[in-house]
Amino acid sequence: MSDQVQMTEMNYDSDRPAAENPVKIMDLSLRDGHQSLFATRGRTEDMIPVAELIDEVGFWAVETWGGATFDTMHRFLNEDPWERLRTLKRYIKKTPFSMLLRAQNLVGYRNYADDLALAFVDRAAENGMDIFRTFDALNDYRNFETVVSQIKKSGKHFQGCICYTMTEPRLGGEVYNLDYYLTKAKDLESMGADSICIKDMAGLLAPYDAYNLVKSMKEAVSIPLHLHSHFTSGMSPMTHLKAIEAGVDIIDTCMTPYAYRTSHAAVEPLVMTLLGTNRDTGFDIKKLASINEILEKEVLPKYKHLLDDSKVSIIDINVLLHQTPGGMLSNLVNQLREMDALDKIGEVYKELPRVRKDLGQIPLVTPTSQIVGVQTVNNVLHDTPDERYKMITGQVKDLCYGLYGKTATPINPEVQKKALKGYPRGEEPITCRPAEVLEPELEKAKEEVGDLAKDLDDVILYAQFPVTGKKFLEWKYGITPAPDNVQPITMEEVKKKDEILKKAKAGELVEKKQDAPAKSESARTFNVFVDQEFFSVDVDPVGGPAIFAAPVTAAAPAAPSPAAPAATASNPEPAAPAPAASPTGTLLLAPMPGMIVKYEKKVGDSVKQGDTVVVLEAMKMENALPAPCDGTIKAIDFDSGDTITKGAVLCVIG
Ligand code: CO
Repeated sequence: MSDQVQMTEMNYDSDRPAAENPVKIMDLSLRDGHQSLFATRGRTEDMIPVAELIDEVGFWAVETWGGATFDTMHRFLNEDPWERLRTLKRYIKKTPFSMLLRAQNLVGYRNYADDLALAFVDRAAENGMDIFRTFDALNDYRNFETVVSQIKKSGKHFQGCICYTMTEPRLGGEVYNLDYYLTKAKDLESMGADSICIKDMAGLLAPYDAYNLVKSMKEAVSIPLHLHSHFTSGMSPMTHLKAIEAGVDIIDTCMTPYAYRTSHAAVEPLVMTLLGTNRDTGFDIKKLASINEILEKEVLPKYKHLLDDSKVSIIDINVLLHQTPGGMLSNLVNQLREMDALDKIGEVYKELPRVRKDLGQIPLVTPTSQIVGVQTVNNVLHDTPDERYKMITGQVKDLCYGLYGKTATPINPEVQKKALKGYPRGEEPITCRPAEVLEPELEKAKEEVGDLAKDLDDVILYAQFPVTGKKFLEWKYGITPAPDNVQPITMEEVKKKDEILKKAKAGELVEKKQDAPAKSESARTFNVFVDQEFFSVDVDPVGGPAIFAAPVTAAAPAAPSPAAPAATASNPEPAAPAPAASPTGTLLLAPMPGMIVKYEKKVGDSVKQGDTVVVLEAMKMENALPAPCDGTIKAIDFDSGDTITKGAVLCVIG
């Protein structure tokens, strides 16, 4: 079918002459690689040992930033994301840096105002970013306008993405057909894109579809074409090869330890495949091997516990059926596991395409993957046979309003109407560029964060992540100490853990059994209501008399309660649910683990059933939790920023 890849010469030495049209490679190990395999937990200190070697390979670019790194670094690693950029730039001097930019969503999960978007791109460019790989989850390029104006003004490379998604088993159908993609490619070229990326986040692009897509696109536009295809389904190495045969210019890969599963194909097999052809990468395979050795010995032992090893198979063929990108899949599984509902994964897969269709057949990529994913989980866990969409997340409401942009097909009008009932911006959805309805927000953020921010970079971090960003800035400037669970683990700790594991496997560890203590006379019985379910729970406080003898009007003490559900192993360590404050009150319990964004009510406020009491962030989506009954708020046990487990007592209404 193709004669474009030809054997040219038989000199395989590392100093072989350059190929006529070498395939260019971008390495993703330091961003998408660890994001896909290790929950984005890669630390800068673990990138430094290979940084200079990576710079020597001859990559077209290295992806070092963006996507989930900004969020994860400040939230879980106690690292300043801006500092990573500057640090790596000191080691990687020749190879350009690339970042994944979520267009008007920047590196967060909603559309931000234009002033913040301009400032973010400007500061990213100043801190060392060279290539801005820009995507919009809805492929609505009106969301590119602001960031692109600044990328161009900063004199940087604008790479426009087309999110690749399907509604059929293969390329085609009513919505996402060849015409759709060619139109998008031409749109990008006319916007001034320096290159185009086909962003196949779930590994759905089949090899022969890739051939046709790339071939047609090469004829339709004249700027370079770049392919980003996740391995998840197992097709990507074949897809890479067919895309190369069709003339693709740049391919994304990872170093072997960061490759495969939900990440990307490895670079080394591709280098060998193309060796001696007119598309030879020119890479020295020995150099790549030496980087891998350092990663294997010195770095990966610290991360292997994060690898999802629940399955032996490295290919997820399910993804071909439910089209879930890797990151989203692991989020869904974690969310269900934390809620003790992993058995519902089958229902989630069934509900997912229904929710997606209701929401306008949107592509599944951050943040739409989370929006669809969390709403799906909410529907599976909370809907009743009589009522669908019982708990609609704030983000789904925003999507229905048009705040994310135009969906590929119209949103289900019934769902839209339900979502927009009482929506603060109005019940009538907008059709303009979303950021046009957003008030400037940079100055407001500056005022809010005050002296805690020492420079504009701090303000920009805070503006996108007000709760966790503030916490991070307090750690950064020594106002509060950073907790243990954000500290790096050392190789010594890894070795110790491995030793214990080895002993356990050899049967040298003896299991220690603890008998349950006798129930004391302080034990009290509580009626606990969770949605439709009712539990009778005995609570027996440890080390002292009962703390709930009198009705409590102030915040209840947050001592761990023995009846509380055990804290899950999520990071950071969630606060244990507080004991019930008053035996007579009705409890509002957390229906899922998460983080308190804010309380809409305070102690003493009277509430009507259904009023929003507290906004809970779970899987990065905000859920407004309503009062289960009329009454007065008697006690509130948590504060903005607190991490809580499922079943935590969020307030007592009496
Ligand atoms: Co990706």
